[in-house]
Amino acid sequence: MEKFIIQGGVPLKGKIRVQGAKNSALPLMAGCLLTKGSSRLKNIPRLTDITAMAEVLEKLGAEVKREDAVLEINTEKLSCHEAPYDLAKRLRASILILGPMLARFGYVRVPLPGGCNIGTRPVNLHLEGLKKLGAEIETKNGYIEAHAKKGLKGNNISLNLPSVGATENLLLAASLAKGITLINNASCSPEVIDLINFLKKMGAKIERIGDKLIKVEGVKELYPVIYSIIPDRIEAGTFIIAGIITRGEVTIEGIRADHLKTPLAKLREMGVNIEVSDNEVKIKKENVWKPIKIKTLPYPGFPTDIQPQITTLACLAQGVSVIVETIFKNRFTHISELRKMGADIERKKDVVLIKGASFLQGTSIVASDIRGGTALILAGLAAKGVTEVHNIYHIDRGHERIEERLSKLGANIFRMKE
Ligand code: EPZ
Repeated sequence: MEKFIIQGGVPLKGKIRVQGAKNSALPLMAGCLLTKGSSRLKNIPRLTDITAMAEVLEKLGAEVKREDAVLEINTEKLSCHEAPYDLAKRLRASILILGPMLARFGYVRVPLPGGCNIGTRPVNLHLEGLKKLGAEIETKNGYIEAHAKKGLKGNNISLNLPSVGATENLLLAASLAKGITLINNASCSPEVIDLINFLKKMGAKIERIGDKLIKVEGVKELYPVIYSIIPDRIEAGTFIIAGIITRGEVTIEGIRADHLKTPLAKLREMGVNIEVSDNEVKIKKENVWKPIKIKTLPYPGFPTDIQPQITTLACLAQGVSVIVETIFKNRFTHISELRKMGADIERKKDVVLIKGASFLQGTSIVASDIRGGTALILAGLAAKGVTEVHNIYHIDRGHERIEERLSKLGANIFRMKE
């Protein structure tokens, strides 16, 4: 196991480029199962989640090769229809092989994804939607076993909440189903749109009707493509907050500002001094910030994946902030750790009240999930003294060499063995 040692109080300075979006790479890797041949995905970050998904595809018989930020995925000879238990259990996104494997082969067996530290993470919407497309699905002994002997057939599906993963699984399945599928109350997150663009490039017939309705007309075959994924809006938000909370002067490059409208609007409401263009955000130095009221919502609302990071920022605001987490039941693992640093935070169910303090004090804290872990790094960068962040494997799931990239901005952070 490894930990980060952070000497806080250093204002970050310089330029940093965001990586490709982890939550776009994962569904697109699963999407390569829909076609025979070799697709190339570009702008793919080096993350443990991406490595795990590549291993799942390889267990199914695909060949996955990496050349810098390009993944070449050859699905000519898929030989197995079962995702390996140990691997798939570790990677929730392995559920996304359900749709493509059913669509292409009519049979797939994947472990029921476990819950994680941020909530139970059910997959009922995925399974109910696939059943509507004609799949027979059984969950027993911790596995999901799905058949579609007569192939999948288009249908009218309504999601009772705009689940990102369920929308993605149904898009993947419906692309090769016979006939028309309508997905009502679908997610319209940038990562879902990226998947739609990728599938259309493969030959899928997909049309968005307004923000919540997606129409898919199944086709007989899809073809391998070369596709470059979108930048990671969650990492962009994290680095923007890193620049602000250290009162530094940082430019975050390679972003899509249109994917960050709500977080940027909220930061402006806090009175921070930022300059935004289409592809970069400049943080002006000596920032001070006011408290904020935030409620996480499905895209385009405030993203749950930036909630922990802005909670850390609120710990040093001049006043009382209110943050409501509506997407996940338990996305507050970072709260106890921030309190150890002197944060004044009160939690009542899905609401946290944060009374801004004048400083945070470095100490030993533990990461429990990707975004909660990055929130703790931000706290360490801003705190007085030294902070040790343990269990940083969570952070490596979502951010490539984060300590090296932050060090280039002057952060005093390094990785060492526990
Ligand atoms: C995706 O998870 C992201 N992961 C998450 O990012 C992100 O927080 C989430 O979307 C935001 O909605 C990937 O894209 C790999 P959901 P996903 O289905 O698809 C409930 C990160 O840090 N739900 O949109 O699993 C669910 O419990 C990760 O990068 C059901 O009830 O999220 C949650 O409360 C964390 N039944 C809500 O919907 C279902 O069948 C939103 O979940 C599916 C979901």
